[in-house]
Order: sequence, then C-alpha cells, then structure tokens
Amino acid sequence: MTAPLIDSFARVHDSLRISVTDRCNIRCFYCMPEEGVKFMPREEILSFEDIERFVRVAVSLGVNKLRITGGEPLVRRNLPDLIARLHAVPGVQDLALTTNAVLLEEFAQPLYDAGLRRLNIHLDTLDRERFLKITRRDDLPKVMSGIATAQKAGFRKIKINIVAVKNLIEPDIVPMAKYCRENGFEPRYIEFMPLDSQELWGKSRVLSADEMAALISKEVGELVEAPDRDPRAPATDYVYADGGGRVGFIASVTKPFCMNCNRLRLTSDGKIRYCLFAIEETDVKQQIRTGTGDDIAAAIRGCVAAKWVGHEINSAKFVPPPRPMYSIGG
Ligand code: 5AD
Ligand code: SF4
Repeated sequence: MTAPLIDSFARVHDSLRISVTDRCNIRCFYCMPEEGVKFMPREEILSFEDIERFVRVAVSLGVNKLRITGGEPLVRRNLPDLIARLHAVPGVQDLALTTNAVLLEEFAQPLYDAGLRRLNIHLDTLDRERFLKITRRDDLPKVMSGIATAQKAGFRKIKINIVAVKNLIEPDIVPMAKYCRENGFEPRYIEFMPLDSQELWGKSRVLSADEMAALISKEVGELVEAPDRDPRAPATDYVYADGGGRVGFIASVTKPFCMNCNRLRLTSDGKIRYCLFAIEETDVKQQIRTGTGDDIAAAIRGCVAAKWVGHEINSAKFVPPPRPMYSIGG
C-alpha cells in the first residue's frame, strides 16, 4: 500500500460510501419532494465495472470499509452482482448496505448469497398510517416482510435507522426502541439534518440525542454508555443496563463528530465528496473510464487534501449542499 489518505487535519480516511442510484421507491418527506423529482440521466451513472475499478484503487490507498447507499440501492438493477464483485476485492474488510427494505423480500437472500452480512434498514415507524404520512407510500407491510426475509436469510445485528424530526417522530421513539429490543435489532436515532430539498429543516425541528436517550431510559430500559464505544464512529452508543442490547444516536447537529470523520463518498454519477455537506466535489468519471489507476488515485488524494474541517450546521454561515440527500447517499 502507498501512503494512507490523510487530510490536513490528520484524519485518516478508510471508509467509502458508494451511492449507486439517486432514485427511490418511496418519498420520505425529509429527503424528497412528493412530486417532480429530477433524477440523473442513466448515461451519467457509473456502471458496476466503473465502481469496482474505483474501489480497487481506493482500497490500495487504505480504504477497507464500504457502504452501499442510494437513493434506494435496491432499485438499481442487479445490485447483488455489485455486492459479489466488491465482496471479492481483497482488502475489503467490511461491506454494508443501507436500504428502506421495501424490496428486501425479493433481494435479502441474493444479497446474502453475494456475501453481504451487514444491513442498515431505514424505518421510522411501525404504524401504517404514520408510515404513509412520512413516506407518502403505503409500503409498511412490504418493509415488515422484507425484514422478516432478511432474518431468515441469515442477517444478524440488523441496524434500524430512525430520522428524528421534532413534532413528528415523538410517538415512534419508544415503540421503535421496544421493537428493536424484542427482535435483537440495534436502533440508530439520527438527528434531522438540513439535507432535504425543500428547506423544511430548522433547529426547532431537531430532536436531540440526549432527549431521546432520556426518554428511552425512562420508558424502555435504563441506558448506560457502551463500554466499547468507538470514538471514531459517528454513533454515540449506549447499551441497556440489563443486557437488552444496544442503542445508537447519530448526533450530527447537537454533537458534531467531524473531527473523527474517516469517510469519503462516491456519488452515482462519479463525483468524490469529502463530506455529506460538501459544496465542491471532484469529478472522477473520466479518470475511471479512460485514465490509469494513478489518475484515479490522484483524484482521490486531491479530494482528501481539500477536505474542510467540518460542517457548520450550527453556525449562521451554514450553506446547505447543492445536491439533495438522495443523490449524495446519506
Ligand atoms: N436527516 C437525517 N437523516 C436523514 N436520512 C435521510 N434524510 C435525512 C435527513 N434529512 C437518513 C435515512 C437514511 C440515511 C442514509 O440517512 O435514515 O437511512
Ligand atoms: Fe428514499 Fe431513503 Fe430518501 Fe426515504 S430517506 S426517500 S428511503 S432515499
């Protein structure tokens, strides 16, 4: 391996999030508008060969963790083929997928067979009416059977992402924690971030990790800090004092973790981003398609070298990213 990917703040980059599509089959209001979403033209999208080529170079620079995201990654045709390709790349130690689970009934087994072992499922509520209100699709039954299929296929330690929007998600916090505890899943409550395309975000709509932890501690079971908390991971991890499992909080707004950030992102149209909130990005599609491995490596290094210290959600200077969440990949 050549020199690792270290930015000007001494952060080592070993984690890559790959968005395989900006399309999605549901319409969570905090992510996508209900109508008229403009998606990228298909010819702009990286092929699986392109993605694998990029990954091989990134791994040679020290990347060893991959996460596949979207939009909704399972709407990308033949996704298990990409999983199999990436699983076979020497040096990939951790391969994970974030999905809304709507298509998991069909894909859980093929994904498992392709080598995937880690799943994060996006699910905010267990109530069908509320699911419809949040996602504008009546797909909760599909999600639930998708989760059941994933368990049968052999997936363990499934994580459930809950986006915590104030004045909305309060009735779901405790039921989601109970559901996860009973089923051996790890809930991860994510503070609402300014990534929606419609500017719905405001500080007053952020439910803080501390408030949620206090509520779960009171209503579900006493939470204590996890002894093996990873200081570099974005989640603040707790465990139930009685051994009932783990609960994570992604406190991006109230406790930013930018100084621990080890992540890079590749968008489905071939742009490298050093931050979810980055304004600038590095186009690497040409290098992937017609350049050498060194050209790709130079683009990655250039992006890491330009990385800023962190987002400024909490400052008046904050400018939301020009791309919406569904085309960055969470
Ligand atoms: N704020 C916080 N999290 C969000 N997600 C989507 N939109 C937002 C937002 N505005 C989450 C979803 C998805 C993950 C990639 O990001 O839970 O699973
Ligand atoms: Fe789709 Fe995920 Fe956005 Fe919801 S949050 S609309 S599941 S991409």
